Amino acid sequence: MIETQNANTLLTLTGIGKQFSKAAKPVLNDVSFSVFEHDCIVVSGQNGSGKTVLMTLIAGLEQPTSGSIYRKQCNGKDIPVGLVFQDADAQILGDTVEEDILFSVRYSRLSQPERIQRLETILKQLGLLEKRNYPARSLSGGEKRRLAVAGILMMEADIIIFDEPFANLDFPGVVQVTTMIRQLKESGKTIMVLTHELEKVLALANRLFILHKGTLVYDAEPKTALENGILAQYGIRNPLCTYRTIEDLIWNADEL
Ligand SMILES: Nc1ncnc2c1ncn2[C@@H]1O[C@H](COP(=O)(O)OP(=O)(O)OP(=O)(O)O)[C@@H](O)[C@H]1O
Ligand SMILES: [Mg+2]
Repeated sequence: MIETQNANTLLTLTGIGKQFSKAAKPVLNDVSFSVFEHDCIVVSGQNGSGKTVLMTLIAGLEQPTSGSIYRKQCNGKDIPVGLVFQDADAQILGDTVEEDILFSVRYSRLSQPERIQRLETILKQLGLLEKRNYPARSLSGGEKRRLAVAGILMMEADIIIFDEPFANLDFPGVVQVTTMIRQLKESGKTIMVLTHELEKVLALANRLFILHKGTLVYDAEPKTALENGILAQYGIRNPLCTYRTIEDLIWNADEL
């Protein structure tokens, strides 16, 4: 696929393949797509389909085996991509909430007043002001994801990728995360959410990707995928099934 870059293109992946050494098969095959400013993309697919590997390639943490990745330039550098990892604890690097948020700008040339002003704004925006001096590890699961986003906002990343942001969260925790994603979207951020839990977030997405065994098999608006059986084909539960009775409260293969 040849994409024409325009001013709104933040990323273009062209023919991306990834094979780990010693692995028999590639984990990504010929993946091509562009991400445009203000996109909110849900990336779905079964366990092992390649979602997390794709994220590490976009962020430059791993290099593709084939293909190329274009990243929009800003002041001569690739635009920063913020990652919110599935394991929220692994992302904590500072002792307190405030120290953790400041960690992402420890080498930046921001002046102290700018640093403090940005920190205060972000603490308020993410509802962490009262917890600024709390031990970061004492936060709840939903708060820890907000903390990870605070660090990303501190470094002014335009693209934020969430890897399984609902993992291990209870209902209030999920709502905290979806509320935050909605606010980030409204503030103009470009967002990718890697999840198979479509029912929690798909309403916010303008695009749905489905990865299947390392191949991008769907890149379009979400509605069609909910209506034409494509989710079932790739082992993703259709969230439009409803619960009406206690007997409905079990997931069965036939409802895919
Ligand atoms: N460092 C690595 N070395 C070898 N294989 C790897 C490595 N990282 C990932 N893989 C393999 O790549 C495939 C895709 O993994 P990935 O973690 O991207 O899947 P996923 O779609 O994120 O799955 P999940 O829904 O479980 O998070 C898997 O088969 C995995 O075992
Ligand atoms: Mg994953």
